[in-house]
Amino acid sequence: MNIVVINGTEIRGCTYQMKEFFLSELREGNTITEFYLPKDGPAFCLGCKTCFMKDEALCPHAAQVQPIWSAIMNADLLVFAYPVYVMRAPGQLKTLLDHFGAHWIAHRPKKEMFTKRAVILTQSVGAPNKGAQSDVETSLNWMGVSDVKKFGLKLMEGVIWPELSEKKRKDIETKTKAFAHQFLNPRVPRMSLKVRLYFLIGKITQKMVLSRTLVPSVDTRYWLDQGWIKR
Ligand SMILES: Cc1cc2nc3c(=O)[nH]c(=O)nc-3n(C[C@H](O)[C@H](O)[C@H](O)COP(=O)(O)O)c2cc1C
Repeated sequence: MNIVVINGTEIRGCTYQMKEFFLSELREGNTITEFYLPKDGPAFCLGCKTCFMKDEALCPHAAQVQPIWSAIMNADLLVFAYPVYVMRAPGQLKTLLDHFGAHWIAHRPKKEMFTKRAVILTQSVGAPNKGAQSDVETSLNWMGVSDVKKFGLKLMEGVIWPELSEKKRKDIETKTKAFAHQFLNPRVPRMSLKVRLYFLIGKITQKMVLSRTLVPSVDTRYWLDQGWIKR
């Protein structure tokens, strides 16, 4: 199984430890590729819309985005590990996701995404993790990933890993490793109702757009080429 990990922080702290516990259960027999944000990620999206209107390969940040996207394409399991920042996902992660907009079902979804599984690992001091997880889950669902498992923890005792009590660190290790076990066996997920609905919305939209134009847009051309809509 190919696993790609998007680390939402470069700090080798609590998120890092949690992610390492998770991966420790999956290292054997699997290939793991990791990216660290913001170091390996793109700068803010400039809003030029080149990806939507022409080609994502022409994005001014393609040099940073394309290696990450290629790794995602080649992966069976996508892992997003990040701390909660002001109740949401860190900005560097949102910046990366902004660059994947052209791959949303509303534009040019990749069929490879329909068979991938994804994991979202988060932690906060004490805030709910839900909002931060939704930021990534929404993108994944709209890119066609049906199977998104979420795992969030509250540190409660502090934010510096070595300063957490032995008991807390052991608790995080045990829980995270136990969570990882469900990913030991590779499995192709079924398309969820939600993703089916998004795809239907995309299809209806593209059909409508096609009926109103003589020269199809890049998106509509893509849907035609995939055989998902017909003239
Ligand atoms: C900029 C910033 C914002 C944060 N916002 C929150 C927050 O809203 N709620 C919360 O419980 N923890 C918050 N935290 C704590 C982190 O979620 C996390 O617990 C902490 O950074 C330790 O993880 P790390 O070692 O991976 O950085 C924040 C931390 C940072 C650096």
